[in-house]
Amino acid sequence: MRAVTFHGKRDVRVDDVPDPVIEEPTDAIVRITSTALCGSDLHLYEVLTAFMGEGDILGHEPMGVVEEVGSAVTNLRPGDRVVVPFNISCGSCFMCDEGLYSQCETTQVTEQGTGAALFGYTKLYGQVPGGQAELLRVPQAQFGPIKVPDGPSDDRFLFLSDVLPTAWQAVEYAAVPPGGSLTVLGLGPIGSMSARVALHRGAGRVIGVDLVPERLERARASGVDTVDLQDVDDPAAAIRELTGGRGTDSVIDAVGMEAHGAAVAKFAQQATGLLPDAMAAKIMRKAGVDRLAALTTAIDVVRRGGTISLSGVYGGMSDPLPMLTLFDKQVQLRMGQANVHQWVDDILPLLTGDGDPLGVDDFATHHLPLAEAPAAYEMFQKKKDGAIKVVFRP
Ligand SMILES: NC(=O)c1ccc[n+]([C@@H]2O[C@H](COP(=O)([O-])OP(=O)(O)OC[C@H]3O[C@@H](n4cnc5c(N)ncnc54)[C@H](O)[C@@H]3O)[C@@H](O)[C@H]2O)c1
Ligand SMILES: [Zn+2]
Ligand SMILES: [Zn+2]
Repeated sequence: MRAVTFHGKRDVRVDDVPDPVIEEPTDAIVRITSTALCGSDLHLYEVLTAFMGEGDILGHEPMGVVEEVGSAVTNLRPGDRVVVPFNISCGSCFMCDEGLYSQCETTQVTEQGTGAALFGYTKLYGQVPGGQAELLRVPQAQFGPIKVPDGPSDDRFLFLSDVLPTAWQAVEYAAVPPGGSLTVLGLGPIGSMSARVALHRGAGRVIGVDLVPERLERARASGVDTVDLQDVDDPAAAIRELTGGRGTDSVIDAVGMEAHGAAVAKFAQQATGLLPDAMAAKIMRKAGVDRLAALTTAIDVVRRGGTISLSGVYGGMSDPLPMLTLFDKQVQLRMGQANVHQWVDDILPLLTGDGDPLGVDDFATHHLPLAEAPAAYEMFQKKKDGAIKVVFRP
């Protein structure tokens, strides 16, 4: 089959690889019909390369049609239309019973000290072959795949794999009071969907921050007030000015470690990029190498006693944080990979009912064949051609 594979920093290719086969009774094989590119893939493309293996298959936002199931998979049949959540969870351990599917104890990558295994996401998360491919082996298929109805286009359901539950959890964790205010840092797919979800769920005001014109424009079209980083030196001061000097009740950081605006960390990341992988991986794990610009803004802009919800991914182990400010402002901080299944029952009715309240049908800006993945990664990273969400059709 054809699959998008990793070969080094900013080097992804479309290779011929062996078809996956059922290895465990709980596996299924899914023929992928749509599979999206995510901001999380950009971390692998640029700063987490030390944790990747040559030839690793990328991708964690797939959907398709079940082709084959293992003997223990009784909930799915060949021909079923499914969306595959980006995290792999068993559905029946202590963590899954708590709704903490991204911490599943059955698939935790204990040798790395990390939570549930993820598709296409580095040795830190189990080095599981990903979903930017014609076929995908889905472990824990007795629980994982979400069955969706036939009929509507793939785009109606595809974002259940990651964007929608991540945005839903970001808003849930942000704990915006009814009618309250929310700042969303970063208006990529995650931030823009978080803003839509927050407005849908009753936030009074959402202020979005980014520096890419078409991302700001798209957020404005969905009812978000915007602050353009190109126009202001201090986004937190600009937002305080918009909120009577207080800041917003809640902040979602939908940027993570690729943030613009922190030269020191950028240098550290580039320096580790020059080292052999084993050494770079060690340094990446020990040193604080995240670009903390967005998180620092979040801490600055949240009102006293407010809540910060981090959905942007961070990876450094000793990043310096302004503890004095966090403590003094009495900030609540919640974060983590999305517990996809926890939010499906809330989201699915919005996808199957009348209308399209979250605007998923035209959320993707680009639909491309898998063969164009190398150019698409570059386009998405450089935010060229208005690329906000890219969907491959293998
Ligand atoms: N928690 C989860 O389960 C989960 C799931 C999916 C994605 N993510 C993470 O969410 C983040 C966003 O993902 P995405 O797909 O929207 O990616 P993206 O890269 O398209 O979006 C990030 C946006 O942030 C903007 N930005 C950069 N620096 C900024 C700054 N200092 N202030 C404000 N905005 C800034 C960029 O211009 C860009 O539009 C990534 O870190 C990704 O890894 C987390
Ligand atoms: Zn993703
Ligand atoms: Zn589990």
